[in-house]
Amino acid sequence: MSKTLTSPKNPRSAVVTGAARGIGRAIATELVGRGFQVIVTDVDAAAAEITAEEIGAAAGLALDVTDEDANHQMAARACTYAPLGAWVCNAGVGFDGTMTDLSSVQIRRLIDVNFTAVVWGSRAAAGVFRAQAAQGVKGGDIGIISSLSAHGPVPGLSVYAATKAAVLSLATSLSAELKKDKIHVHAICPDGVNTQMVADMNQGGEARALIAAGKFLQPQEVATALVEMFGTRRVYRTLPAWRGAMMRISSLAPGPMMRAVPLIRRMGERKLKKGLAS
Ligand SMILES: NC(=O)c1ccc[n+]([C@@H]2O[C@H](COP(=O)([O-])OP(=O)(O)OC[C@H]3O[C@@H](n4cnc5c(N)ncnc54)[C@H](O)[C@@H]3O)[C@@H](O)[C@H]2O)c1
Repeated sequence: MSKTLTSPKNPRSAVVTGAARGIGRAIATELVGRGFQVIVTDVDAAAAEITAEEIGAAAGLALDVTDEDANHQMAARACTYAPLGAWVCNAGVGFDGTMTDLSSVQIRRLIDVNFTAVVWGSRAAAGVFRAQAAQGVKGGDIGIISSLSAHGPVPGLSVYAATKAAVLSLATSLSAELKKDKIHVHAICPDGVNTQMVADMNQGGEARALIAAGKFLQPQEVATALVEMFGTRRVYRTLPAWRGAMMRISSLAPGPMMRAVPLIRRMGERKLKKGLAS
């Protein structure tokens, strides 16, 4: 259970990226409920503003996470509401397709949004947390949305999965690098979540069928699991935990484990046909 990180006497702000919808919106809502002055940010400025109003956030503002300077400006802006308490790198793109089927533009976008931008956001937040500590306001939390796919092979999502493995690696190293500043870094690795990202995937594609074979999580479950880690030393959590264990085993022995993929895909295809996967 997380500690109380904000209170009327000790207000803190929180920035959530890609928060106009889906998992980001649920995280922003969870943080509003816990008393943070939340800044809903998204590349879609109008949608961010609407979401902010709907969930009672402090503001809804434009932020393209791939713009390094814009991340720093947003971190400074958040401090005008209250000292920064949390920064959540949630924004992501989920183009499915094999490495050879994806376009070069899609591959660059996957790496820029899902990986490089997480570095920019984490750096912006860490810079502000350190500056605040010099003024006596110590600590802060950085949340990173990785994925179950970070733990092992996912045919049909190879580049996406690689970006998610990269941010999980980043989170584990960062948590050690920033520990002395009392900045906690936490990653969450969810299985498929019922959001527009998955709905937009090719229904006949390999990845969509593999995801559909499992049981979809709801955005709120991911939000609660992430925010529960804030203020604690827990570095990452996989949802559900048993699927994480299976994926790690398949990573240790990808040859034999991947023989089950056609069977799992057929299960997913059957669920998609019956309309059970949403
Ligand atoms: N849905 C899943 O099954 C699932 C599973 C594991 C992890 N994730 C991760 O969770 C995060 C949220 O995914 P979601 O399912 O809610 O997706 P979503 O597509 O519903 O929402 C993503 C949001 O990110 C925004 N965005 C995209 N590019 C951006 C950019 N350059 N700058 C700022 N915002 C940008 C979009 O406008 C959108 O509002 C992503 O990082 C995703 O990879 C999703």
